[in-house]
Amino acid sequence: MYAIEVDNLTKIYGKGETAVTALQDATFKVKPGELVAILGPSGSGKTTLLTCIGLINEPTYGRVVIDGTIVADGGWHSSIDLKRMRREKLGFIFQAHNLIPFLTAQENVMVALEINGLTRNDAKRRSIELLNALNLGHRINNFPSALSGGESQRVAIARALANRPRVILADEPTAALDTENGKNVMDLLKKLAVENNSAIMVVTHDHRMVENFDRILEVSDGRIVGEQSIVDIN
Ligand SMILES: Nc1ncnc2c1ncn2[C@@H]1O[C@H](COP(=O)(O)OP(=O)(O)OP(=O)(O)O)[C@@H](O)[C@H]1O
Ligand SMILES: [Mg+2]
Repeated sequence: MYAIEVDNLTKIYGKGETAVTALQDATFKVKPGELVAILGPSGSGKTTLLTCIGLINEPTYGRVVIDGTIVADGGWHSSIDLKRMRREKLGFIFQAHNLIPFLTAQENVMVALEINGLTRNDAKRRSIELLNALNLGHRINNFPSALSGGESQRVAIARALANRPRVILADEPTAALDTENGKNVMDLLKKLAVENNSAIMVVTHDHRMVENFDRILEVSDGRIVGEQSIVDIN
């Protein structure tokens, strides 16, 4: 079974004369454990693709199947519980990290775990393990206002990965990070792909990251134009 199946996925923003076709007939499959990069110029539809798969943005046409469940088939599938599906199957790393301002770094990660039924002690243990892996062991008791942009981004990454989701979607997760922390994030994603058999799709402009992936999907003008060798990308 595939972790992600996308068939003729199309997203049109707006109606009539101002309508924008941001994504047209995207079709591909991702296996469990596969790490896929999405590359393409600004405005080509990368975020649209990710948010349609991530149950944040309703597709206009086409089908999306996550872990065997049809979530969209010409709009959301009628029987789908989007919130539950997002919580149980998906980890989403956004360009803007939305940390809860009145919780510490560690508590921001713990809420995601406790919502999914972990005991407080297990949530504490797992959150520390994740924050350590992201070089944030010394920041667990800090509030978001006392964290740098890159530190906040890494807390948001820890939170998205906390529940070992089957599908991880990340929109430029390393853009705000230096080389070392960017590498830590990629290492953690690779580890999750192997250990949990998670399917991972990452939008990136960062050429240093590309060698980490199993496959590259190239998006141009709302269409998936195929796979391209690393040297040709730009
Ligand atoms: N909410 C929206 N309403 C209308 N048009 C939108 C909306 N979001 C995106 N678009 C348009 O859809 C197209 C694809 O946008 P998208 O954000 O998916 O591109 P992207 O590849 O992620 O770009 P970037 O690399 O700059 O993040 C663009 O033409 C954009 O202007
Ligand atoms: Mg984008």
